Amino acid sequence: MSSYRITLLAGDGIGPEISAVAVALLERVASQHGFSLSFDPQPVGGAAIDALGEPLPASSLEACRASDAVLLAAIGGPQYDALPRQLRPESGLLALRAGLGLFANLRPVKIVPALIDASSLKAEVISGVDLLVVRELTGGIYFGQPKGRVRTEDGEERGFNTMTYSSSEVDRIARVAFELAQQRRGQLCSVDKANVLDVSQLWRDRVNALASDYPGVELSHMYVDNAAMQLVRNPRQFDVLLTGNLFGDILSDEAAMLTGSIGMLPSASLGSGGPGLFEPVHGSAPDIAGQDKANPLAMVLSAAMLLRVGLKQEAAAAALEAAVDQVLNEGLRTGDLMAAGCTLVGCQAMGSALLKALG
Ligand code: IPM
Ligand code: MG
Repeated sequence: MSSYRITLLAGDGIGPEISAVAVALLERVASQHGFSLSFDPQPVGGAAIDALGEPLPASSLEACRASDAVLLAAIGGPQYDALPRQLRPESGLLALRAGLGLFANLRPVKIVPALIDASSLKAEVISGVDLLVVRELTGGIYFGQPKGRVRTEDGEERGFNTMTYSSSEVDRIARVAFELAQQRRGQLCSVDKANVLDVSQLWRDRVNALASDYPGVELSHMYVDNAAMQLVRNPRQFDVLLTGNLFGDILSDEAAMLTGSIGMLPSASLGSGGPGLFEPVHGSAPDIAGQDKANPLAMVLSAAMLLRVGLKQEAAAAALEAAVDQVLNEGLRTGDLMAAGCTLVGCQAMGSALLKALG
């Protein structure tokens, strides 16, 4: 029997609640599909700051490196906002991405028919949307040097970051996006700001240079401002969207709202070999933490991505996704998705219903 080691990073806020749901489901679905999982909980983010004084302890990173896949819930909270940047929870997440070499972030956005009315957009605009944001995750303005804050001679303070990509950084993320487009509907839209930024012109030139390697893929380019508009005007036009780090951060939150709730969106972050990191797109929701109100579905769908992409356990992944569809079709909703005629449930009750749906 195959057995896999999962590093579990429950993190902060609602993280522990939604992690508990995901772990119970993963254990069940593994036993149903003939493999076993062992979970190694490690501190990250605010939880690690509280316990060990830093947001990504070396021991947590080592545990991640030694595992088959990493499941992360969420990090962050207002109590950490005043800390120096390198000691904030977000810095731990960035160090984790960099430390595991996770340059490719996959954020699928698929409309669940049962939730079509949960979106703030009209049903006719979003019905049938099925797109994938491929976001570069370890470069661009998030990591570019130089960066910082200086006091200038005239007494002003200046803050600055550098948006930078090398050709090899563009090529490796573009190849991931081309390959995923090949497996989907064969359309790749690369997002940039090449009308203004040199870094974007390089991005566009490199993506164009690779296109001949993927003759089945129809490549287009779109400026990021237009992409933001097109996502709410006509999101069905998109199959795979390729973006740099910052543009993908922004556009993936926007795309999340097509589904009605950011509480529905999973993600996978992958490198070249080594374990992948699977996490919901949403944050730690400190305002509802510990109240059994959190929506665990994005976490559960991230667990499904872990099974499919990280462990190549397709049948188990599909079973987990089917369980999510089933509870939604039964009308169960957490507060973020609640609608007339549906049944309001908490995080734990949603977990129990999902276990029941798995059988
Ligand atoms: C995300 C988040 C992170 C990011 C934050 C928490 C550092 O917004 O995963 O999209 O900006 O990448
Ligand atoms: Mg974000």
